[in-house]
Amino acid sequence: MQKGLFITFEGADGCGKTTQLNLLAQYLEQNGYDVIKTREPGAKGLGEKFREILLNYDGDVSDRCESFLFLADRAQHVDMIIKPAVEKGKIVLCDRHTDSTLAYQGYGRGLDLKQINMLNNIATDGLKPDMTFVFDVDIETSNKRVGKEKDRMESAGDDFFTKVRNGYLQIAKMEPNRIKVIDSTRSIDEVFEDVKMYIKNALK
Ligand code: TYD
Repeated sequence: MQKGLFITFEGADGCGKTTQLNLLAQYLEQNGYDVIKTREPGAKGLGEKFREILLNYDGDVSDRCESFLFLADRAQHVDMIIKPAVEKGKIVLCDRHTDSTLAYQGYGRGLDLKQINMLNNIATDGLKPDMTFVFDVDIETSNKRVGKEKDRMESAGDDFFTKVRNGYLQIAKMEPNRIKVIDSTRSIDEVFEDVKMYIKNALK
């Protein structure tokens, strides 16, 4: 059986990645592909519990604790959902994955990037996305899209957003083959044209 594809969708809050993930899932399904949509934190099952703590807990959370919770969620997700699906030949579209921890906990919170890389590697058991989209937006666009109702992570402020955004751009420079940066201040349709172009190449 042919091995599937593992594609991750990344970017700072309000970048529009979930909309693009849904559009791509629809497009691929219409073209006969077997697609799974999933997300971090908070895939089906135990992931939902991690999500609840990570996004809604209103007490203090230490930066290292936060990192380990995202990583624990990831380990469960890779073992129970992502790996089995890729092995069955499915296309897995995942809303956030390892690069989120690098961008948010590494570049954003200031934790050691090498250590996060190592911990990510343990959490994924070495599995790497075949392709990653980074949807890049500026702070004004993000604020407009996120609106007033913010979760724990979205409430971290404009400086934090800028660190995360620049973090993503740095990460993308280090792995240009895997990571495609897409200017996402444009319309949904324009952004999706880019996504399709990259996917068509990957599926050739
Ligand atoms: P979510 O509601 O899924 O937001 P979005 O639609 O922007 O993906 O919330 C996920 C939040 O968790 C988001 O602010 C990014 C953050 N996050 C990290 O800080 N580290 C991680 O490793 C992951 C997976 C997410």
